[in-house]
Amino acid sequence: MATALDIGGLPAVWLRDNCPCPLCRDPRTGQKLFQITDLPLDPVAADVREHGSDVEIVWAPDGHRSVYARTWFEAPAEPDPRSEDAKSLWNAAQLPASRFEFDWNDYARDPVPALTAVQRFGLALLRGVPCVEEQVLAVAGTFGFVRETNYGRLFDVRVEERPNNLAFTSVRITPHTDNPYRDPVPTLQLLHCLHNEAAGGDSGFVDGFRAAALLRAEQPDAYRALVCTPVPFEFRDAHTRLRAHRPIIGADDAGRIREVRFNNRSMGTLRLPAGELAEFYAAYRAFAEILGRPELMLTRRLDPGDCVVFDNTRVLHARTAFDGAGRRHLQGCYADLDGLASTLAVLDRTVGDAS
Ligand code: OGA
Ligand code: ZN
Ligand code: ZN
Repeated sequence: MATALDIGGLPAVWLRDNCPCPLCRDPRTGQKLFQITDLPLDPVAADVREHGSDVEIVWAPDGHRSVYARTWFEAPAEPDPRSEDAKSLWNAAQLPASRFEFDWNDYARDPVPALTAVQRFGLALLRGVPCVEEQVLAVAGTFGFVRETNYGRLFDVRVEERPNNLAFTSVRITPHTDNPYRDPVPTLQLLHCLHNEAAGGDSGFVDGFRAAALLRAEQPDAYRALVCTPVPFEFRDAHTRLRAHRPIIGADDAGRIREVRFNNRSMGTLRLPAGELAEFYAAYRAFAEILGRPELMLTRRLDPGDCVVFDNTRVLHARTAFDGAGRRHLQGCYADLDGLASTLAVLDRTVGDAS
């Protein structure tokens, strides 16, 4: 027999705000039809009855009637899908190819494993993606929407004669997240390899959440300095002037890691009292040293047909220098995690509905 449900400790306003009845929620859209200020100031559950798996409440003073499923009361709070609590943090050795590499044809049949890897590990590598120009846009279109920027809908990563970014040269690029000078940043990045015949130019990926968690454990004061100091990031070329003031490590109010922005190329001049500057720089260096630990970096040379999809608020990417005489050409684009999460949720629901 079902035990009596104790709603005594639950705030009446919370229960009223979550009333599922068609006067409170539009049955077509499921969206709420009232404002918080439309509710009685002091609603009282005047009568509570259980009918099988439902609980009915009649409210005073207005006589409104709410019916809730018992299971609704018992649902756990969902963790923020963007925070470290919803992720699996990794060192390179903990991320074998089988966990993040997927064949393009398998992906086309069932994208769920690869998209889940992006959510969980922050990274998926699709192999055997057709080696044609602009294919990276089609890959983004399989799960979401391209985020156009000043670099275009897509950007070519190859040696340019007049580069506006060091990515478009053959120099080494140390672990970084892209576009920290944008607010909000593009939360996903894709890089699709069309040619990689140059000596060098190997790719590396680092779990920035793992690195931030290590800093928090090893040097809590340094961690705090990076969470608390907004840093001016900037980008400028002949047509563009972008600036964003955000901390290197973003954490929520409960202290959970949520975002990493790290890019030595585009950090502007921080202006603070001298003592705070010294403290920040010690912390910045400490984090950079952790990010540089070899055991953290997953190294993987991209072959033509490889397309990496990664969480640009978490996973840092890098490449070694390459010999500019050899041909190396990637095409990249940005997209966002919300679209990917939505695609995954819809696919998961379809699986659930079919069973
Ligand atoms: C980039 C970048 C790395 C590479 O385009 O954002 O970091 O492998 N490129 O060339
Ligand atoms: Zn209602
Ligand atoms: Zn980059």
